[in-house]
Amino acid sequence: MLNTEYLGLGLKSPVIVSSGPITQNIVSLRKCEEAGAGAVVLKSIFEEQIEADVSSEMEANEEYLSHSSAEGFFAQSSRDFYIDKYMKLLTMAKKELSIPVIASISAKTMDAWIDYAGRFAACGADAIELNYYPISSESSVPGSEVDRRAIEFAKAARDKIRIPLSIKIGYKYSSLANIIMSFDRIGIDGLVLFNRFFRPDIDIETMTFSQGSPSSSPDEYGEALRWIGLMSGEVKMDLAGNTGIHSGETVVKMILAGAPACEVCTSVIRNGFSAITSMNDAIEAWMGRHGFSSINDFRGRLAQEKSEEGYKWERTQFLKTIS
Ligand SMILES: Cc1cc2nc3c(=O)[nH]c(=O)nc-3n(C[C@H](O)[C@H](O)[C@H](O)COP(=O)(O)O)c2cc1C
Repeated sequence: MLNTEYLGLGLKSPVIVSSGPITQNIVSLRKCEEAGAGAVVLKSIFEEQIEADVSSEMEANEEYLSHSSAEGFFAQSSRDFYIDKYMKLLTMAKKELSIPVIASISAKTMDAWIDYAGRFAACGADAIELNYYPISSESSVPGSEVDRRAIEFAKAARDKIRIPLSIKIGYKYSSLANIIMSFDRIGIDGLVLFNRFFRPDIDIETMTFSQGSPSSSPDEYGEALRWIGLMSGEVKMDLAGNTGIHSGETVVKMILAGAPACEVCTSVIRNGFSAITSMNDAIEAWMGRHGFSSINDFRGRLAQEKSEEGYKWERTQFLKTIS
């Protein structure tokens, strides 16, 4: 009843556990499946972190690395150590789980991205999610250049990787509609709208940097809902909802807007694996109340193209708030 298709993969539920602390070990991955998740996205492998760890190991072994060839060999085998660790988890997950397992990569350089993706595809990953969102803090770089780089990056990845490929993006692009269409045109299979990133904050007592809450609140789903509603009818690729999806009812909203599936993280961290089961139960109960027997019966009903009220996805101002 809850079956859906995402990135060309058959899912038994539209609830996917997104990349994060829940998906970084085999015990939790098994629990996701047992609780009824449709798929899991493994915690991202971060090129940035690997390179930082490799540098500190090189520093610690400086005296043994006087020859440049030894240095290169040491650096590469240290990198391989981290990548192998990721591949072990992926291989184990593929062996033990029957639901799709998606590997997630956050790379800065194209070479690393292609290298990791190729190795993960060989381990049997069902798809790759590219966690790509550089912050555009260089004032000399116009929005068009930021977009061009993103598309170039995605295109190079698409050209090299044959398994399904999705990109998890943020929403601060100058024209989201334009960049979403561009990803679609180059053959990306899906986008995850939207990642919720690290939020720097300040502790005013110590006057030092601190970290904003890593958890979302249930009222943060609005931007994803709007953009799925606006764009799902225009693109071939799948648009999955993410951020602030804490209940089955919110998953239903995303599907009505056009998403085939949603990724969830905070609700599982807060409420445990039963949050997945509760979401599935709530979606099923809602479908029962409205006489729907499959996700496709109502997916996209309120997408802009299909709904008479579709123009409302473009509304930015509150009208008639004073009665
Ligand atoms: C502690 C923590 C670690 C995360 N690590 C990753 C990560 O490695 N890669 C990634 O793409 N997203 C990561 N995320 C983001 C989540 O996958 C998700 O996009 C975000 O939390 C919004 O979904 P939610 O509202 O259901 O929490 C992380 C989130 C949290 C809270």
